[in-house]
Amino acid sequence: MSKVLETISSHGLVPVIKLDSADSAEPLATALLEAGLPLAEVTFRTAAAADAIARITKRVPDVLVGAGTVLTVDQIKQAMDAGARFVVTPGFNPRVVEYCVKHEIPITPGVNNPSGVEAGLEFGLTLLKFFPAEVSGGVAMLKAFGGPYGEVSFVPTGGINAANLEQYLKLKNVAAIGGSWMVPSDRVAAGEFDHVGKLTREAVELVKQIRSKG
Ligand code: 3PG
Repeated sequence: MSKVLETISSHGLVPVIKLDSADSAEPLATALLEAGLPLAEVTFRTAAAADAIARITKRVPDVLVGAGTVLTVDQIKQAMDAGARFVVTPGFNPRVVEYCVKHEIPITPGVNNPSGVEAGLEFGLTLLKFFPAEVSGGVAMLKAFGGPYGEVSFVPTGGINAANLEQYLKLKNVAAIGGSWMVPSDRVAAGEFDHVGKLTREAVELVKQIRSKG
């Protein structure tokens, strides 16, 4: 596994960010950093994504920034030009995965069934996003993946928050949890970075507590 993906696993938490304006990128990344989570997945759900990634790369370089909701090879190129260090996709697009693997770009493609997991293995990937986690069988599905796919770890994302985080993080095939609950886009758009920082600090603390229980 790449160093970047190891770093993501070590934090155990991936904030999934949707920015309407790139102007929010720097204060948001600073809030994450100060809250103890120097990591950001900026999604290509808005036109601001590439610019936001570029601003974080330049102005808050201690934050490891990646691109989320990547659907095309063109978006990978935009993200990498902007300084993204990893790619996350909602589904398994072989063209996108192949490009990343070929160019040694760390990628966690989204899967939600055994065929997806095996498509990942075919490319040598052993860390995959499990998306959309809650509606795809959640914890029970991940436990079932543990049987045939013992060497694969997951980043479950979609419908996870502070209330149900623990049951996921306790699973031995879960490397990290992704989610937007600590970076709500309405609060970000309103410039409420203190609030975002508070939610993030609480999430970081929760992950530490759960992991310390072993
Ligand atoms: C994603 O793209 O990873 C999800 O939209 C995040 O899911 P959440 O908003 O339910 O946390």
